[in-house]
Amino acid sequence: MKTIRILGIETSCDDTALALVEATGSLEKPQYKIDKSVISSQLSVHKEYGGVVPGLAKREHSRNLVKVLYETLSLNYGNSKSQETNSKQIPNDKIQNVEEILERYEDLANEFKEKIVPLEKPDIDLIAVTQGPGLEPALWVGINFARALSRLWDIPIIGVDHMEGHIAVILLSENNGISNDQFSISKQAPNSKTQISNKIRFPAVALAISGGHTQLILVRDWLKYELLGETVDDAAGEAFDKVARLLGLGFPGGPEIEKLAQKGNAEAFKFPRPMINSKDYNFSFSGLKTAVRYTVEKMTEDEKTKQTANIAASFQKAVIDSVVSKTAKAAQDHKAKTVILAGGVAANKTLRENFEKEIPIKVPGTSVIFPGIKLSTDNAVMIAAAGYLRHLAGEKSDWKNMEAESGKLITENF
Ligand code: KG4
Ligand code: ZN
Repeated sequence: MKTIRILGIETSCDDTALALVEATGSLEKPQYKIDKSVISSQLSVHKEYGGVVPGLAKREHSRNLVKVLYETLSLNYGNSKSQETNSKQIPNDKIQNVEEILERYEDLANEFKEKIVPLEKPDIDLIAVTQGPGLEPALWVGINFARALSRLWDIPIIGVDHMEGHIAVILLSENNGISNDQFSISKQAPNSKTQISNKIRFPAVALAISGGHTQLILVRDWLKYELLGETVDDAAGEAFDKVARLLGLGFPGGPEIEKLAQKGNAEAFKFPRPMINSKDYNFSFSGLKTAVRYTVEKMTEDEKTKQTANIAASFQKAVIDSVVSKTAKAAQDHKAKTVILAGGVAANKTLRENFEKEIPIKVPGTSVIFPGIKLSTDNAVMIAAAGYLRHLAGEKSDWKNMEAESGKLITENF
């Protein structure tokens, strides 16, 4: 089967991420190799606001995209004159289309003309770009950049759902050629004698858990998804970020809370686990965040300093209990053979350990699989990975009329 080279583009939030991924194989056994993955973080810009500011994200993406593309293609930005340049004349209508596509971003349009238009067309067969969900102004920059590249280089383009990307990236855990520290798979259920395969077996239940979403998704097969439930208020990552702010920690809050929680006692505070016993597959984290706030507000500064690690650990445990319990319920009810943990919050080691330990006990015969830590948080490899699945299914988008879908849910396509 033919190997294709995919350029992944992800700008749905505060990371400008591009990746070059080689993909081959059918939907039954897709295989990937990462040639390059570049992530330019905007953390320093958003940090002082304690969250991501959409207008600033848009500005930063448009400033970063060309440089990140150069790095992804292993070109030297500082000395672009030394690059192989296209000796052929570019037709005027192409240039005009590119200008129209980028007209909202003056600096990006100028940089595109100066640094990209003269380049020799690179060896790329498909461009996969995040179409949604995400911050609309941020999404649009990536989409328009992708459209401009697609038009300039005559490369087909495909729109990808961000959450599908988070889930599809676990396919890279099954690869061999990639260093192990990037990937991690639950190898053995604690009380089972047989080694559990690291292959994804369907039906699978995925917990996609990030700063914007917390969804339980039934994955009957690749491209066959059904939304089982989701948060009715805050996303889990959002709760981590908000509680971190309450505790005076940095942004993003997830990694800060995780670090602090290691020094704390998770039983010190009895925080609520809202909806843990509800019969549906939904979550709620806003009441938990409020409970943490009340606890913190009642404390003197001195007490607060002494108790921060305990609060962080107890809060983290409350989130973990909620998601483990609902995911196990969904996996039991749908006879899932694999449980997938995906999205930025899946970078949390305690969450991973709890999944590996508890899910196979609660749902015997089920294996747990998650992406490596680096591929759990936003990146463009995941967009290329999902783009390939859609490409195999014969999907195609059109640079002429591709739009951002800020509220798009994974299940609305099916
Ligand atoms: O998927 P992601 O990188 O971006 C979105 O699509 O939102 O997820 C970011 C979220 C943030 O809320 C961040 O605090 C959380 O993931 N996060 C974590 C950890 N690393 C990132 N939450 C808990 N523990 C972590 N180690
Ligand atoms: Zn994400």
